[in-house]
Amino acid sequence: MKLTLKIWRQKNSQTKGELKTYPIDGVEGDMSFLEMLDVLNEGLINKGEEPVVFDHDCREGICGSCSLQINGEPHGPDRLVTTCQLHMRMFNDGDTIVIEPFRAKAFPVIKDLVVDRSSFDRIQQAGGYISVNTSGNTIDANTIPVNKHDADESFNAATCIGCGACVAACKNASAMLFTSAKVSQFALLPQGRIEATERVLNMVAQMDKEGFGNCSNTGACEIECPKGISLENIARMNREYLGASLKG
Ligand code: SF4
Ligand code: FES
Repeated sequence: MKLTLKIWRQKNSQTKGELKTYPIDGVEGDMSFLEMLDVLNEGLINKGEEPVVFDHDCREGICGSCSLQINGEPHGPDRLVTTCQLHMRMFNDGDTIVIEPFRAKAFPVIKDLVVDRSSFDRIQQAGGYISVNTSGNTIDANTIPVNKHDADESFNAATCIGCGACVAACKNASAMLFTSAKVSQFALLPQGRIEATERVLNMVAQMDKEGFGNCSNTGACEIECPKGISLENIARMNREYLGASLKG
């Protein structure tokens, strides 16, 4: 396949960026999107030009670092896959592909296609954990019975990889889907109930502090999420938040 890539190039967060055009040839349908970018970068390096900087790590849909806006969609046109799992067979010979970083005030561009998502880390640090006494008397987790439905729902919420596609898909750049997944995975388990009140209050407060927008129930986040995180988690977080606020 012969393609035309329009790629966002930006030196750093202080400078203005722009889309630059790169023709590319010999793209195979079985290549992943990142492998296609590797080929482009090899060509740029051979010509003495600066390669395009993009984020990646596991390349198997686990780490959540390969966050690219492809033709206006986070992680591109396929469903339930990350950019590293997106295959070039989703595109046709002669296509033009526009590749941008995830856009949100709380995700400032570091360079080219790489954004700073440490705002997500700070939301996690505000309460996305349970405190466990590891003094030698740790109780085996399986001694507390959990019903199957709750265990499954908790597990589903825990599959969020923190990629940020939900934020990039949202017209308000809201982080509600991410935060609600991180609240839900504990809210559904007895082990998570002990710190549930402060968890939801602190995580929502941090989410607002980071500059993410409000949720207006559009649902784009759920559609673009590579892990199929459900909007039900947002409803659950709202219930948790209301209950915690009433407790004072
Ligand atoms: S909720 Fe989905 S889209 Fe949002 S960070 Fe988690 S995995 Fe990514
Ligand atoms: S590189 Fe890890 S999810 Fe894509």
